[in-house]
Amino acid sequence: MTVPGPRGPEHWRAMNLAAGDTLAAIDLLRERHGDAFVFGFGPIRFHWLLGADANRFVLHQAASSFRNREAYRFLEPIVGRGALIVSDEPEHLQRRRRVQGAFQRRRLHGVGARALLAFDAWADEVLARRELALQPSLRPVVLDLVIDVLLGAGVRTRHPRLRHDLFAMMAFANQPFLAQLFRLPLPGTPWWRFTAARRRVDAALYAEIARHRDRRGDDDGVLAMLLADSADGPPLADEVVRDQAVGLVAAGFDTTTAALTWCAWLLCDEALRERVASAVQAVPMPTDLRAAASEQIEEAAAVPEFDALWREALRLYPPAPAILRVSHEELQWRGLQLPRGALVALSTYHTHRDERLWREAPRVELERWLGADPSWAAPRDPFAYLPFGYGARHCIGAGLARILAGAWSTVLLRRARWQALAPEAVRPLGTTLSPPGGLPLRFEPLEGGPRRAPRTAVDGAPSAAGARRSEPA
Ligand code: HEM
Repeated sequence: MTVPGPRGPEHWRAMNLAAGDTLAAIDLLRERHGDAFVFGFGPIRFHWLLGADANRFVLHQAASSFRNREAYRFLEPIVGRGALIVSDEPEHLQRRRRVQGAFQRRRLHGVGARALLAFDAWADEVLARRELALQPSLRPVVLDLVIDVLLGAGVRTRHPRLRHDLFAMMAFANQPFLAQLFRLPLPGTPWWRFTAARRRVDAALYAEIARHRDRRGDDDGVLAMLLADSADGPPLADEVVRDQAVGLVAAGFDTTTAALTWCAWLLCDEALRERVASAVQAVPMPTDLRAAASEQIEEAAAVPEFDALWREALRLYPPAPAILRVSHEELQWRGLQLPRGALVALSTYHTHRDERLWREAPRVELERWLGADPSWAAPRDPFAYLPFGYGARHCIGAGLARILAGAWSTVLLRRARWQALAPEAVRPLGTTLSPPGGLPLRFEPLEGGPRRAPRTAVDGAPSAAGARRSEPA
């Protein structure tokens, strides 16, 4: 039997709804057709397969029958053909091995301290302005951190426009799917702005790659690792190194910014914020956060209540709400025929809110992850919760995102309380799931929060001596 789908007026109704809110359209079609349906327009027709069993089938049982490249082809203008997300085996595994080491815990040591300083400076600005949209204010901070970790700490100084140009590139990818198909090379069009930004990003990256080849590059980024001699195959071509670097930055900064924004949204609930904040504040830290030692930052960032909050935010609002694949042979799922070349969409969003898997799915409940009450425990099935994907394609930056979230919470929950300016308008939208308007918030400083010493040399490494001066918050 072929996979069912809406026809005639039902199709148009669903298309209309999807133009404003794709997730609502999927809800509607699921009610009518169940866990599998075809939905789309013209050549772009998604085979939506919903639920934990569908995730298991596509990402595990029949994983070798699916491909990434064709599914994520729409990203190629940005990440080229060499990035991990658009690579298939056997290149994918070789390429992944080359960078995997850079994301190990040991190598990321120190990122927490750098992030703490950056978020502390950002909190100064937030508390000075009091009212702002959170997501756009966080994006440059997260992008700078991701650039420093991935490309090396000196790159932003040598290429001061890089951040701006990366934003301009990503703006094209963040347009609605159909708008991205219009690629008119005329001055002033989105495509024109995109290609101009890409040329400048490429020039900066090829200059950095040349520096590394001359042994003058920063040795602290993933770029250095991509260019180093490796047992995992011959040296990579400059174009592949460029694609990998852009692919990592692009995959990393918008998703992480959205995740932090959703954490802030959940923490608008005062009782919940009080609970998580008192757990975070209970970790002894120096009054001036700039003096914190790496171990203290790691301890504060690992607080179980914040970890549970992070997991709930990623459950209810997964920044990557869909995982895409293309089948390269004919397959059967639950008696339904998936043709060769089917564009398959799995929904992390719908899986994480599936009442068959989650008790009171829409409710924010830290106990799902804290383990004190087994009746709330999250399902053990790995295909019931996959905000970072699964298996060989599991997100390579999940640990980095968590470190940044830990540093962000350490700063903000010690320094501020906040409330949403338009809570009734918050509903998740977009390819990277985000609240409309970037979540406008009103902030207030916490009485008795960290007192700020006058800023001296900014962004210095936190002094180890600071560890001796620690005191309970
Ligand atoms: C909260 C933040 C993040 C979320 C929710 C997220 C989510 C995901 C998901 C769902 C996938 C799997 C896609 C698939 O199987 O088709 C993925 C893959 C990937 N992510 Fe993330 N990501 C985050 C942060 C990051 C960061 C910080 C980086 C890099 C610095 C990164 C780099 C990547 C890469 C390169 C892949 C492709 C891996 C492969 O195919 O081997 N992500 N991410």
